Amino acid sequence: MNSAVARRTTKSNESSTRTVAFSLGGDALQGDSTDSYAAAAWLAGQKVLSRSLKYHRPRGAFCLEGHCSGCLVRIDGVPNLRACQASCRDSALVESQNAFPSAGFDVLGAVDKVYRRGMDHHTLMTSATVLNKVANRVVRALSGLGKLPTMTQAVLDNEIAQPVVAVEVDVVVIGAGPSGLAAATTIASAGHSVLVLDEQLELGGSYLADVRFGRAAAASAVATAQAAGATLLAQTTAIGYFAEPGNVRQGVVIAAAGASHGKWNEATLVRVQARRWLWATGGYAANLPFANNDRPGVLAARAVGRLLAAHDIVAGDNIVMIVDGERGGVPASEVRRHATAVADALSDEGCVVRTVSLADVATVATSLFGNDVTAIELSTGERIECDTVAVVALPSPASEGARMQGCDVTLDPDVGGYAVTVDAHGRTSVRGAYATGDVTGYLGPAAAAEHGQHIGAAIVADLTAGAQHVG
Ligand code: FES
Repeated sequence: MNSAVARRTTKSNESSTRTVAFSLGGDALQGDSTDSYAAAAWLAGQKVLSRSLKYHRPRGAFCLEGHCSGCLVRIDGVPNLRACQASCRDSALVESQNAFPSAGFDVLGAVDKVYRRGMDHHTLMTSATVLNKVANRVVRALSGLGKLPTMTQAVLDNEIAQPVVAVEVDVVVIGAGPSGLAAATTIASAGHSVLVLDEQLELGGSYLADVRFGRAAAASAVATAQAAGATLLAQTTAIGYFAEPGNVRQGVVIAAAGASHGKWNEATLVRVQARRWLWATGGYAANLPFANNDRPGVLAARAVGRLLAAHDIVAGDNIVMIVDGERGGVPASEVRRHATAVADALSDEGCVVRTVSLADVATVATSLFGNDVTAIELSTGERIECDTVAVVALPSPASEGARMQGCDVTLDPDVGGYAVTVDAHGRTSVRGAYATGDVTGYLGPAAAAEHGQHIGAAIVADLTAGAQHVG
């Protein structure tokens, strides 16, 4: 089956953007300057971007939001960059990793065929000393991800002399999705200084993965927050919260600027001191347990929605959605509403979309070399031909930052994982730290924005009263 079935939507306005040419794995590709390399590669039918470390199974995009590592590539000599988090640039050299001679046909992919029942490399060839030495040399040569970067002296100097900029604000908001933007707007409107950090290429979070909202809703929320006085930084990753004994603010959030922002360049580290912290980090697209769920062509339903809503790309012609029917409650219902909206939008574009329950899935069938999804095989023996699989699963709360600060979390499969525990005002177990939106359990964009506005008002009341947290 031809994997090049993705296409622009009928609504896309190609004249509004700039076409750029780059090389991916030796092939000349064209992309849109507003697309990531991963989106452009998907559109061109290049779903295999790299190979897995041990079995050399084909790897490709799954989440399109920087969290699954399926899209790691080497860009202009720098290894292990996420193809979904880098915008297409003219003349860029994008190379696959862990593959010889190419990601599409990797001779070491034979390992996956030979060791179908798994390989324990710790006990490989241990029967004879000589054999074991050979095995160790081979394993050492093959280990690791990618190759060392090709660095110019200028880049090396920049890396070593990484400037640190100190910033002090009333509130730092980590995450510029629906909840973070709504909270930032409310807090900034009350006259407080707000800095919003977001790692993604484009601000807007889950608005950009949801066809009911999309770019227009994201742009509107961003413009509203900026008009209120909030400072918003895209491509700026909050590395974490670091406690500092003796610091009147208890600790700092350190962020890495991945793009130029005024006087900051791509190597700048930002050291943020704040009176209040708000974790609005959303959730991660999650996979479901079925055989071959790692094959390129298996995408999170959120990623299929993101291709539509943020890139005007239709993921495929024949799409099967796999739904976890076990989960109940409001979060699961909201996830299914999102999936239905995506399916409707795909149907409007002329796609065939079918839905199957996880419990009925036996495996994902692939083409001869395992690179292209060809069908879903059900436990009944039925086979459903398809070119793309969309996984409909509860996103997992992105609670690491809050946990690093010491905030309590609650493990609940019905909210998607380790959600930050908050009270009715968004207060966490740490004095001065708040959380809002999907990181407290999946809500969906509309409810998350509402929650963010409410929590923003609670923070304003806290700042205004000078009240201290009692949670
Ligand atoms: S990290 Fe790029 S697709 Fe998941």
